[in-house]
Order: sequence, then C-alpha cells, then structure tokens
Amino acid sequence: MPFEIEGIVLGNRYAGNNTVWISIFAPQIARTSLPGQFVMVEAVGKFLRRPISIASVSGGRIFLLIRIVGDGTRIIASVRRNEKLKILGPLGNGFPENVQNPILVGGGIGIAPLIFASQRMKENGENFVAIYGERTADDIIWGDFLPENVQICTDDGSAGFRGTTVDLLKKQNPAPIFACGPQPMLKAISEIAYKWNVPAYILLEERMACGFGVCQGCVIKTKNGYRRVCTDGPVFAATEIYENTR
Ligand SMILES: Cc1cc2nc3c(=O)[nH]c(=O)nc-3n(C[C@H](O)[C@H](O)[C@H](O)COP(=O)(O)OP(=O)(O)OC[C@H]3O[C@@H](n4cnc5c(N)ncnc54)[C@H](O)[C@@H]3O)c2cc1C
Ligand code: FES
Repeated sequence: MPFEIEGIVLGNRYAGNNTVWISIFAPQIARTSLPGQFVMVEAVGKFLRRPISIASVSGGRIFLLIRIVGDGTRIIASVRRNEKLKILGPLGNGFPENVQNPILVGGGIGIAPLIFASQRMKENGENFVAIYGERTADDIIWGDFLPENVQICTDDGSAGFRGTTVDLLKKQNPAPIFACGPQPMLKAISEIAYKWNVPAYILLEERMACGFGVCQGCVIKTKNGYRRVCTDGPVFAATEIYENTR
C-alpha cells in the first residue's frame, strides 16, 4: 500500500554529473519498499509529480539518486536539509525476488534502482555482479552508495572498461539479468539474455502522470496486450516487451 507523506530531508549531497543523493526520513515507505519500486515526488510549482526510483533504504530513511534533466528534477534536487518533500510510495512491482546470482546492469541514472537491489542482495548474502556505464569518466557519479564490486565502463574508455554496458555484459558468464537504462540498451540486453537462455528483467522509465494506475498516461503495448508501466511494472520480463526474445 502506498503512503502519501511529507518526508523530512535529512541530507542532499552532490554526486557528480548533475546528480544528487538525497536522504529523506520516510519510515513507512522505507519499511515497505522493494528494489525496483519508485516514489512520485512533488516538484513545487509543477502540476505533475515526478517518478523516482528508491535507490536505497536504511533505518527509517529512503535515498533518491536524482539526475537533473529538466525543471522538475531541478526543483526536487534543490531541496535542502530539514525541508519537507511530498512523496507518494512505494509504487510499482519491483524486481522479482529469489533470482540466483543475477547480473545488475545500470546505464546512466538507470543505476539508481540497482543500487537498492545490490544492497538487498548483500544483506541477504546473495551473490551478484554489478555493471555501471556512462559515456565518459566525467559522467560517472561518485559515492559510497555504489555497489563495492561494481564494474565501470565508459564509451570512450576514459574510466574502467572501454565500451558500453552491453559490451561488458557480453564478457560475463551467463546469468539472469536485472537492467535499467536507455531503451536501446535494454533491447540489446534482452537479446543477450535470449542467446544465453536466461531471464532478463528490465525497468522501464516511461513518462508518468499519476503513478498509480488512473490516468493511463504510461500505457505501453506488450506481447500480453496494453499494460500500465506504473502498476503492472515498472519491471517487466524482457520477453513481454521485445520481439526476438524468449
Ligand atoms: C519508474 C521510474 C523511475 C525513475 N527513476 C529515476 C531515478 O531514480 N532518478 C532520476 O534521476 N530519474 C528517474 N526517472 C526519470 C525521471 O522521472 C525523469 O527524469 C523526470 O520525470 C524528468 O522530469 P523533469 O521535469 O526534470 O524533466 P522534463 O522537463 O519533463 O524533461 C526533460 C527531458 O527529459 C526527458 N524525460 C522526461 N521524463 C523522462 C523519462 N521518464 N524517461 C526518459 N526521458 C525522460 C524529456 O523527454 C526531456 O528531454 C524515473 C522514471 C521512472 C518512470
Ligand atoms: S502514470 Fe497514470 S496510469 Fe500510469
């Protein structure tokens, strides 16, 4: 069940590349959140709230990793310590549980929900591989919240492996995949999963209006008919979204 709350901002620190790491005191949401779920965050002065993945939880706090791409994210990212932020959540389905030894792949700000997934797996003593890609070294976010064992790649090779997340994924041993990032990356990853004969679960960052199933603003066509990303997703089996995937 989602909660509509005014969370108190406990911290807001810059994490590089127009991205901030915000901690919010929101015990109800922290207690009930699953990796892959999101919150709708009010951007003061804007009509619509913005969907943002829950990037971590700790005690009564939730953490959001927000990249500024427009007015809404700029307003949210400018919030200061002790101010209040109106949030609704947790929303959506989240990644499936009990998937053995997955590979987590985050492209750009798509790393956010995978930070929470890696945190939960670490707490549960589960093994996983984490991959995080950006275009260049300057685009990489920094902070102790990134998974310890994360493998970094950049398109130009200025940090970590030279190549895309998809190139680096191909170097791994076949395993189930959790992924979030740009659509072309998700499609390519789904094709690798098909070749490997493993499941891939992809988190779609579709544009949203309400976030809880009422407005139909996030409807996409899938192999199983029309689905709402906010309530049927945002995590889908790749097989449901892309052709040529099993
Ligand atoms: C389930 C979900 C989880 C998300 N998690 C995060 C997160 O953890 N951190 C984060 O920084 N962002 C996340 N996003 C994306 C975030 O919601 C958008 O960046 C934000 O709504 C843009 O609002 P804006 O007013 O700043 O930009 P706008 O002015 O609305 O748009 C600025 C630019 O961004 C593009 N854009 C806007 N929304 C999206 C979107 N959903 N997907 C792709 N492009 C978009 C627009 O086309 C435009 O080019 C998530 C989205 C979804 C649906
Ligand atoms: S955003 Fe309104 S139905 Fe999904």
